[in-house]
Amino acid sequence: MSEMEKTSGSHSADSNPWTIQDATVEHLDALVVLEEACFSVPWSRQSFEAELAGNQFSRVCMIVNPGQGCKIEVISYICAWIVFEEIRFLNVAVHPAFRRQGLARQLICHVLRLGADAGCCRGLLEVRKANTSARNLYEYFNFTAYGTRKSYYTNPTEDAILMRLESLIPLQTERRDERNQSVGSQTTIHIISG
Ligand SMILES: CC(C)(COP(=O)(O)OP(=O)(O)OC[C@H]1O[C@@H](n2cnc3c(N)ncnc32)[C@H](O)[C@@H]1OP(=O)(O)O)[C@@H](O)C(=O)NCCC(=O)NCCS
Repeated sequence: MSEMEKTSGSHSADSNPWTIQDATVEHLDALVVLEEACFSVPWSRQSFEAELAGNQFSRVCMIVNPGQGCKIEVISYICAWIVFEEIRFLNVAVHPAFRRQGLARQLICHVLRLGADAGCCRGLLEVRKANTSARNLYEYFNFTAYGTRKSYYTNPTEDAILMRLESLIPLQTERRDERNQSVGSQTTIHIISG
């Protein structure tokens, strides 16, 4: 990530058109629209306001639709609290029309990077028991289940699986060509040791 990207709070990868940026109160309407398209019990506008303006630990990052004047303005977002040594993942959502393109994975990488830069060494989250997509996503990052919260969710009533990530390790990765030569774009991601 370049210094410019660090100061602007955004990150772009040259392998795809997606740009991650910090959400602000100006994006409230679009976040609410996205949320309602993704959850049976969506966060309210007030919940987003609290995360965007009233919580010093909260980070809300999003990917906007690269198409001009599109109906779906924000296609993906993540909300996490970076609290001392912990990253608490509150929510991640990708609009149904944009799923299975790696957007959620990129957002999680981004937040892991922010957390590691802030000195975090572990991650925590909870997920619906039957939410296979999300559980696979978290397992990809080496989150492991460590407990259950009975009937935690409503509509439908469902247990929460508690997951944690034990350690974050910064890793420099470089794109290389077939002759194993560096082709420039260097990205920092965080791989988690199990
Ligand atoms: C879960 C969610 C965020 C995944 O977003 P996404 O951008 O489609 O996910 P990605 O493309 O980054 O997928 C990363 C990995 O997650 C897993 N995954 C994602 N969708 C999956 C699906 N439908 N079935 C099984 N595994 C899935 C896979 O392991 C995938 O890797 P692969 O594509 O190499 O197999 C998205 O489905 C969503 O918004 N769901 C509704 C909201 C929600 O449940 N959020 C989680 C709250 S805890």
